[in-house]
Amino acid sequence: MNELDSLVESAQQLFAQAQTPNDLENAKAQFLGKSGKVTELMKGMAQLSVEEKKSRGAAINLAKQAIEAALTTRRQALADAELEAHLKAEVLDVTLPGRRCGTGGLHPVSVTMERIEGIFGSMGFDVAEGPEIESDWFNFTALNTPEDHPARSMHDTFYVEGGTAHAPNLLRTHTSPMQVRHAVQHVKKYRGLIDAGQTMPEIRVIAPGRTYRVDSDATHSPMFHQCEGLWIGENVSFKDLKVVFTDFCKTFFEQDDLVLRFRPSFFPFTEPSAEIDIQFQHGPLAGRWLEVSGAGQVHPNVVRNMGLDPEKYIGFAFGMGPDRLTMLRYGVNDLRLFFDGDIRFLSQFQ
Ligand code: DAH
Repeated sequence: MNELDSLVESAQQLFAQAQTPNDLENAKAQFLGKSGKVTELMKGMAQLSVEEKKSRGAAINLAKQAIEAALTTRRQALADAELEAHLKAEVLDVTLPGRRCGTGGLHPVSVTMERIEGIFGSMGFDVAEGPEIESDWFNFTALNTPEDHPARSMHDTFYVEGGTAHAPNLLRTHTSPMQVRHAVQHVKKYRGLIDAGQTMPEIRVIAPGRTYRVDSDATHSPMFHQCEGLWIGENVSFKDLKVVFTDFCKTFFEQDDLVLRFRPSFFPFTEPSAEIDIQFQHGPLAGRWLEVSGAGQVHPNVVRNMGLDPEKYIGFAFGMGPDRLTMLRYGVNDLRLFFDGDIRFLSQFQ
């Protein structure tokens, strides 16, 4: 084998050994680079005669072409192998079932809140929201519950920083503070009308939200929900309360034969006051009386704190527990389940 043939052969071997494009380029440099073996051979022709140059040059060129061909072949082979590896790594089995992306859903209590808003909305009630950190004034005093009033002990209050000894800040123990908060805004808006001796548009609002008390067992949670209702006008009576609330309950539970009972009770901010019980006529709870709301005719002192004349304006309020309504609607017997955040429980409501 002549010298050029073995050069070609060694190039082919070296190229074959190259496992990466980088290896291959290094191997190429040994033959075709500036000081590569083929280049050296070319340089070595300087002393040859014209005749010899011709034949030697042609032979070297042939060898060079063979080396270049081997290089191209190996380059292609390496590129093919790389592509192959890529495809293997990204193999896609189109017969596998698709990955679902969870759509999430509403918490059962949120569903209840939306139902409540929808039903009262259809009766012309606005929806108002207010702060969960509340002042002593709105939570108690404005609601006819002065500092030393025994009714304050009905609420186990969480106090928070800020405020003063006589006017502490607290986590609202009910949504009732929204009665005065909302009414004051409403009255401000219609001050002109009221001062001119005209009648302001009625206040008709519900205020759903979170409330807090130091309490925790199967039917009490330190955080729970309430929904306040308030209707104030010139001629809004206890009869209207009965109609509105009865309508609401029948619609909410989708049971036309639901029976309601307004049981006399006491709240400082209403007079008279009632506790509202419902009785299902069928289903697992049929026959039992279940309390769903406090309610009553708004106390004149509270109407006064709204900035209104209790001789002219009168109305009713109620405060119900959406958590309890949710438990009754779905037959859940432990309130804590709603707030544990266990997805196995919550996903049953989707
Ligand atoms: N705020 C009362 C509570 O949490 C419930 C209540 C009773 C609200 C009577 C009212 C009402 O608006 O008129 O126990």
